[in-house]
Amino acid sequence: MVGMVFAMPGNERLAAEIVRIGPWKAGGLEARRFPDGESYVRILSDVADRRTAILCTLARPDSRFLMLVFAARALKALGARSVTLIAPYLSYMRQDARFRPGEALTARHFAELISREFDRLVTVDPHLHRYRDLREIYEIPATTLHSAPLLAEWVRNNVEDPIIIGPDSESEQWVSEIAEAADAPYLVLEKRRLGDRSVVLKAPDLRRWGHRRPVVVDDIISSGATIVEASRCLRAHRIATPACLIVHALFPDQVRSRLAAATVALVSTNTVSHPTNGISVAAMIAAVLDGDGVAGAG
Ligand code: R5P
Repeated sequence: MVGMVFAMPGNERLAAEIVRIGPWKAGGLEARRFPDGESYVRILSDVADRRTAILCTLARPDSRFLMLVFAARALKALGARSVTLIAPYLSYMRQDARFRPGEALTARHFAELISREFDRLVTVDPHLHRYRDLREIYEIPATTLHSAPLLAEWVRNNVEDPIIIGPDSESEQWVSEIAEAADAPYLVLEKRRLGDRSVVLKAPDLRRWGHRRPVVVDDIISSGATIVEASRCLRAHRIATPACLIVHALFPDQVRSRLAAATVALVSTNTVSHPTNGISVAAMIAAVLDGDGVAGAG
C-alpha cells in the first residue's frame, strides 16, 4: 500500500509538489485554531496499516509544535503503520551547547520530543555544528538530505566566473561541496557574533579574487545581520556586491529590503515557504519516499 503525505498548514505547496512527483499520495487533514488559540486537528483519510508522513517545516516552531503532535497522535490512533516527520527545516539546532550556565540545551530537548512522537525524520541541511550527525541527539532514524547539488546547479546556470563565499567556519562543509560541483574556488570568512542581531566578519586577503563574481552561501538567514555584514566586508575589499544563496529563509519581510540592498540576487530553497524561493527540494524529498517506507536513514 502506497504511503500518504499530510501537509500541516503552510506546507501545502511543497506537499503538492512532492505528491505530484510520487510515489506517495496526498492525505487529507483539517487543522485550524479555535478562537481561544487552541488547535483542532482531524485526519480525513483512511490510514489504517498505511505508512504516513507529515510535512511540517519547523520555522517558528513554537506556534506549530502542538498541532503537529496532535496530528501525529491522531494518525497513530487511526492505525497508521508508521508516522514520519518531514521537516525540511529542522529547528532548534543552534543551541547545541550551554554557552552560559543554566541554559536549556534546546537542540537535545527538542530532539527528545520529536523522537518520542515520530518513527522517522527526514530533513534538509540541519544546522550541524558541534553535533556532527543527527544520530547524536535523535533516537529515531533520520534521513539528512543535502541541497548543495541544487545550489551548485543554480550557480552553474546563473553566475559566470563565480567564487563561493561562506560567512563562517561552519559554512565550509557546504561551501566546499558547492564550489567543487560548480567548478569554482571558495573561501570562508571569519565571524564573531556580538549578539542575536549583530556580527562582525573578517576576510582573508581577497586581492586575487577581484575579477570573480561572489556568491555568498549560508544555511540560514534569520535577522539578516550575517549577509549584510558579509556584503559590507566584501565591498570593503573591493569585491563586487554578492549574490546570495540560502537554504532556509527564516527572515521576515522587514529584513528583505536591507538584504536587497546588500545583494544582487537573493535566492532560497523552499524548505521554508518564502517570497525568495527559487530552488525546489521537492524531488529530493520524494526520492526518499519509496514503496517500502523511507529509505536512506543516516
Ligand atoms: C549561523 O550559525 C548560521 O549558519 C547563520 O549564519 C546564522 O543563523 C544567520 O543568522 P543571521 O541572519 O541572524 O545573521
